[in-house]
Amino acid sequence: MEQDLTRIGVSLPENLLGKFDEIITKRGYSSRSEGIRDAIRGYIRYYAWMSEVEGERVGTISLVYDHSQRGLVNSLLDIEHEFSEIIRSSIHMHINHDMCLEVLLVRGDARDVKDVTERIMTIRGVKHVKLTTIIPEEEI
Ligand code: NI
Repeated sequence: MEQDLTRIGVSLPENLLGKFDEIITKRGYSSRSEGIRDAIRGYIRYYAWMSEVEGERVGTISLVYDHSQRGLVNSLLDIEHEFSEIIRSSIHMHINHDMCLEVLLVRGDARDVKDVTERIMTIRGVKHVKLTTIIPEEEI
């Protein structure tokens, strides 16, 4: 079914747009708009997947961030302490001068795990967040 299209204006940092254009060129999208529509669909699917996660979970939250972003490290540490019942451990790797990779090991109710993940996603300077969870002691 053909849907009406709405035109929106979005402001993006030049390097972000440059990288996005590289990807859509490699993947053969006919236009930037089509690439953006697909990216938004992926974002919505990921959110829907996250919304379906429930019950007791163990897992990881992987994040990449720019530690030179003002206030970021404090915000992150505040969250890690606030959710210390959920975030059981963490691993930190310095990627380069500014960028860090951190993996948080989590255990708890899915709602809390998702809360933590969403709080981290909203911190300015956090570039990438990926939650993976499994059901502990699942019998297959
Ligand atoms: Ni670091």
